[in-house]
Amino acid sequence: MHISSLNAYEIIASGGYPTLEVTLELSDGSAGVASVPYGASAGSYEATVLVDGDSNRYNGNGMLTAIAHIDQVLAPVLTKQSFVSQAALDNALIGIDGTVNKKKLGGNTILAISLAYAKAVAQSRKQPLYLYILEEFKLPTVRSLPKPMMVTVEGGKHADNSTDLQEFCLSAIGSKPIREHVRATLEAYHLVKKILQKNGLSTNVGNEGAFAPGGITSNEQPLQFLVNAIEQAGYEPGKDLGISIDPAASEYYQDNMYHLKLEKTNFDAKQMIDYYRDWLKKYPFVSIEDPLAEDDWDHWPIMQALCAEHNVPLIGDDLTVTSVKRLQKAIDLKAVSGVLVKLNQIGSLTETIQCCQLAQKHKLMIVPSHRGGGESNDTSMVDVAVAVGAAYIKVGPTRGERVAKYNRLLEIERQASA
Ligand code: PGA
Ligand code: ZN
Repeated sequence: MHISSLNAYEIIASGGYPTLEVTLELSDGSAGVASVPYGASAGSYEATVLVDGDSNRYNGNGMLTAIAHIDQVLAPVLTKQSFVSQAALDNALIGIDGTVNKKKLGGNTILAISLAYAKAVAQSRKQPLYLYILEEFKLPTVRSLPKPMMVTVEGGKHADNSTDLQEFCLSAIGSKPIREHVRATLEAYHLVKKILQKNGLSTNVGNEGAFAPGGITSNEQPLQFLVNAIEQAGYEPGKDLGISIDPAASEYYQDNMYHLKLEKTNFDAKQMIDYYRDWLKKYPFVSIEDPLAEDDWDHWPIMQALCAEHNVPLIGDDLTVTSVKRLQKAIDLKAVSGVLVKLNQIGSLTETIQCCQLAQKHKLMIVPSHRGGGESNDTSMVDVAVAVGAAYIKVGPTRGERVAKYNRLLEIERQASA
């Protein structure tokens, strides 16, 4: 069986700019269609998102260069070959690119092909994508499905005039069917809306479909709102539902200081950690992601020790960028106890799974995530989450490209129990 055709074209992502979609056919007639997202607060060490840079089209964000690479360079090579495994295909693509951050072909280009191939082979084998991934990479049997980590209030680069910290999430706790976790989380989400309204704050949404309350006066207020909402929904904070935050601190870090506009304060790393220390005592955290900047390696181990005291996983995102190399460094330094996983941060399915395998080996919490810049309706991240036995998926509560992820998770649950 070989790749018989490869077609790439632009589709529009949720951010209003094009992204890449690829349709790949195998010689037995099976086909896979995959599209890729892009970030708004992308880490500096992520794989390149190759855009045209032609300011006459989409402010430079067109995908025609990536499409030309596929049409002229990759399709002629790939359609002549058959690949013995997903890794063989991905390694061939990585080899043709030949750069560290996939800057020649683009991580978006390579990932779109990688995922379209995975979906085509899964179809050929008559398997759901997660099962294909599980078998292809010989992953351990999955015991439970990932729970919702639902972005509920957002700020930072994902909204105007909202919090400095980027995300405040409702995270489901306990073992019950995913549909019940989704229900509980959304019930609390709706109460956050009421609480915001009562406080005279807007309930407009940001990039990820979470509330972006312009005019909010502190970075701590959303934590209180989330706890109140959990209680008002009839759930117990810390038992049924908890809180995850993603400050995305690289975005407010400059000249060795953390700049919080709402508090009109500049913190050094130690003061920033003390700020979180206070919160850890007061709120029912399920996880904390990127509380410090992506290059602030010296202070991550201190933050990790603090989180460990409170039994709260510390998750790397911009720090680790789904890279085995950066995750290994974080493990060696005892800098994290969890990892966010974004396929397009590294730019191929194989490397994403390798990063998850490293996390599994070290018993880290795994959280595959949507992107805040532009998402598509592609749900591969959910199948990856299921295959690697992830604890959570981090996805926003509304907007079609977000709920597509929850609906895929619910579909997998229904099929698994059928
Ligand atoms: P991004 O943010 O996709 O805009 O980079 C999401 C996150 O930081 O988790
Ligand atoms: Zn993040």
